[in-house]
Amino acid sequence: MSGILLITGASRGIGAATALLAARRGYRVCVNYRANADAAAEVVARIAEEGGEAVAVQADTGRESEVERLFTTVDKQLGPLTALVNNAGILFTQCRVDQLDEDRIRRVLTTNVVGYLLCAKHAVLRMSTAHGGAGGAIVNVSSAAARLGSPGEYVDYAASKGAVDSLTIGLALEVAAEGIRVNAVRPGIIHTGIHADGGEPGRVDRIGPNLPMRRGGYPEEVAEAILWLLSDQASYITGTFIDAAGGR
Ligand SMILES: NC(=O)c1ccc[n+]([C@@H]2O[C@H](COP(=O)([O-])OP(=O)(O)OC[C@H]3O[C@@H](n4cnc5c(N)ncnc54)[C@H](OP(=O)(O)O)[C@@H]3O)[C@@H](O)[C@H]2O)c1
Repeated sequence: MSGILLITGASRGIGAATALLAARRGYRVCVNYRANADAAAEVVARIAEEGGEAVAVQADTGRESEVERLFTTVDKQLGPLTALVNNAGILFTQCRVDQLDEDRIRRVLTTNVVGYLLCAKHAVLRMSTAHGGAGGAIVNVSSAAARLGSPGEYVDYAASKGAVDSLTIGLALEVAAEGIRVNAVRPGIIHTGIHADGGEPGRVDRIGPNLPMRRGGYPEEVAEAILWLLSDQASYITGTFIDAAGGR
């Protein structure tokens, strides 16, 4: 038994791949999602078929009342939380900063930054030895965009991921003596549906051949890095980053 893991945004893409791999490694998994109940149920069913245990829980991670319900559901249905993967992230159609509108900026920051902070808060309340917990691990899914800035595509999204990197460092130092390790994975360009949300479903195939490794990445490759950071094999590692970006 590896522990009890909550993954936000696990109905598809990197979150779903992480849920499947985590279950294979012995975690009991909470598959959080916002809207696509069928996709989340499919992830849970695949885990069950392989002999694992998972539950799907709907919650918008950008709202604290829903985050509280999410964590309480994990407490009741799976038991004491030992790990969190902050993964639920969004972006919108590619554009320049001079074309952004306030509503979009607020939506991106609410899910990608406020949501990560709220989930981190409720995980720390459960896992920190200062709160009577037994310790644990958090992995934040950031992005190479935090380093690259995404000019002409989504600077709002890149800025949100820069905030995730700062959150990772600050929280890691804050809870290092309380039994919790906090790290981040920064994926590059990965084959998931998020690029269609940006208005370019074929983005990975356009950019992939120009990357140092001459291809885009796969969600399963990112999941491997996440699971390693969560594992006891990474027991002396906190406040750091793994770039899963094919050399970029
Ligand atoms: N794919 C890439 O190239 C890439 C590169 C770098 C970083 N990343 C990061 O990796 C993470 C996962 O990306 P992905 O490509 O796997 O994305 P994806 O395929 O678009 O999946 C996003 C997931 O997040 C969920 N979600 C969105 N907003 C949510 C909210 N407010 N509350 C709860 N769940 C929410 C979605 O659930 P519903 O479908 O039910 O709404 C879905 O399960 C994101 O943080 C993203 O920024 C991705």
